Amino acid sequence: AQDGYDLWLQYDKIDDDKVVENYLDHISGFHKFGSDETLDVATTELKTAFEGLVGQTLKELNSVEENSVVLGSEENLPSEIRAMLKSDLSEINSEGYVLKSLSLNNNRITVVTGKTDVGVLYGTFRLIKEMQLHNNITQCDIIDSPKIQKRLLNHWDNLDRTVERGYAGFSIWDWHHLPELIKPEYIDYARANASIGINGTVLTNVNASSLVLTSHYIEKVKALAEVFRPYGLQVYLTARFSSPMESGDLKTADPLDPEVRQWWKDKADEIYAEIPDFGGFLVKANSEGQPGPNNYDRSHVDGANMLAEAVAPHSGIVMWRAFVYSEDDPEDRAKQAYSEFVPFDGQFHDNVLVQVKNGPIDFQPREPFHPMFGAMPDTPLMMEFQITQEYLGFSSHLVYLPEMFEETLDEDTYVQGEGSTVAKVVDGTLSNKKLTGIAGVANIGTAKNWTGHPFGQANWYGFGRLAWDPYLDSEAIAKEWLKMTFSNEQEFVDPVKDLMIKSREAVVNYMTPLGLHHIMDTGHHYGPGPWVDDLGRPEWNPVYYHRATSEGVGFDRTESGSDALSQYAEPIREKYNSIETTPEKYLLWFHHVPWDYKMENGQTLWYNLAAKYQEGVEDVEEMVNTWNDIEEYVDDQRFEEIQMLLQIQLKEAKWWRNAVLLYFQQFSGKELPEFIPEPE
Ligand code: GCU
Repeated sequence: AQDGYDLWLQYDKIDDDKVVENYLDHISGFHKFGSDETLDVATTELKTAFEGLVGQTLKELNSVEENSVVLGSEENLPSEIRAMLKSDLSEINSEGYVLKSLSLNNNRITVVTGKTDVGVLYGTFRLIKEMQLHNNITQCDIIDSPKIQKRLLNHWDNLDRTVERGYAGFSIWDWHHLPELIKPEYIDYARANASIGINGTVLTNVNASSLVLTSHYIEKVKALAEVFRPYGLQVYLTARFSSPMESGDLKTADPLDPEVRQWWKDKADEIYAEIPDFGGFLVKANSEGQPGPNNYDRSHVDGANMLAEAVAPHSGIVMWRAFVYSEDDPEDRAKQAYSEFVPFDGQFHDNVLVQVKNGPIDFQPREPFHPMFGAMPDTPLMMEFQITQEYLGFSSHLVYLPEMFEETLDEDTYVQGEGSTVAKVVDGTLSNKKLTGIAGVANIGTAKNWTGHPFGQANWYGFGRLAWDPYLDSEAIAKEWLKMTFSNEQEFVDPVKDLMIKSREAVVNYMTPLGLHHIMDTGHHYGPGPWVDDLGRPEWNPVYYHRATSEGVGFDRTESGSDALSQYAEPIREKYNSIETTPEKYLLWFHHVPWDYKMENGQTLWYNLAAKYQEGVEDVEEMVNTWNDIEEYVDDQRFEEIQMLLQIQLKEAKWWRNAVLLYFQQFSGKELPEFIPEPE
């Protein structure tokens, strides 16, 4: 639909007759083996999609006939089909699928199977996607499995329906009307997640309320869990560490206190009695004022393991966040999580994952990978990306984030020699981890199109795809999303794919080029604010990060400075310790650099900084032009909305350039290069 509600699950009639004919020639009905609610939602989806895409009813057949789609999990398939797929099935894991064209008793059929019905559901979405992409489905031979086990959205949604760092309206969880009122959005949300393989959702904000753990709310959570269950989507909650004192009536939340431990066990039992497949808890403790074990002189291990013991009998997990930076040690915030957590390696229980943000500061347009990745071989580390654009222009700016996610996943930690990428840490292959996970802070709200900016949908979609397979190429993801969301025409897909890929470097250029970071205006983090220096904690102030003086700019994290580099393995440490061998994209992240420093192109730092900001503006100008050129391929509503949003982005790219250069000019004392236009 024009309002974008259908996301990438648009099943409008395919406008290419040849393609439609091909599908009609090969699919005329379906037959399912098994009787599970997951199988039901799979077949309903297939019917809806088929009828929309090719304009004909897809009949349910009583037996396997010529041209049928056959759906069922391995154990439910008839033995002859199972035998034909034996080796394919041996290659997949419990959530994987096999999608295969076969000939059975002279009937051509398309089999969708997996080890479980959820696998069948994922395979069904794959078959639908093949049709949305207009691919040939006559010779299907597709085998795929997720590479990471826990693929979660993290909603920073409060119980009053405000969303922390949410820019797409209010929370989609209508707590007031739950459990009775089940909104269609809940089902469509589950469909969308299942279509990309997301298998868990943390419903509540990391800055948690203990209210959600009361029986009154557990009933509401249960109602959502029941909607999501057929789609393979488990619910999780954030656990406020002081809950035993707030939603319970204990005097302490000390994790070594037997009564406290018992309280959490009872609470877990209570939740699991209502929601047998409850996923577990996500915890933000002793971070930004949240309570935690440190309040009782206990460690993160004490806190995490207490909760882990409570959920372990139910196969639950605990995701313990490493986003900590203490007030006592403001020397370099980038170092603190590592310093605090790495000594605990190997001490967490088996069902604990430590959840680490992609970079050591906080969801900036570009950060080097977090040094904890690779540094805790005996602890499963869960990646936390932010899909909502807290520091990247909210839902006003078009920024394609999978390009950034891919950059981080591909970075080499070198901890076990060359090729020890972040992706291998996260998918567990580097140190043979049994439990693996990845989370994305959701950008979803009550906006009609879910994400505010229509292109925000691509970030949800792309996160899901990379959670499924962290080795995918973000460019390929952009292409498939564009085709499913807008149009299959190459004249549309190619230029807009380029626009998306470019959009990430654009935002880096016009906000924080050359390794600058955290110079957004504070509190809300929207727009430039490099001058802010009066906030309560030093590391909340932008001046703490850029450190501009008349000598130069940048944060010295080498041996002569905070030595944050010592947290990285060789050869990164040595390479980044010297200005000459530090990649320019991280220059001011690791070095305090004189304004006159000559860079690779022979020009000074000051000149290059100005050039990057100008490039950012020009990048957005190009995005505007590209979009204007593809008008004929997009419906009016979405075309115009995106066109107007791009104008905001252009205006704000200029705002960033002008404000930051004017501010730094006070320190550099130099003229602006002549390519910077006079302010309008
Ligand atoms: C950022 C963000 C906060 C959030 C925090 C977190 O600092 O601004 O709103 O609570 O991250 O991830 O815990």
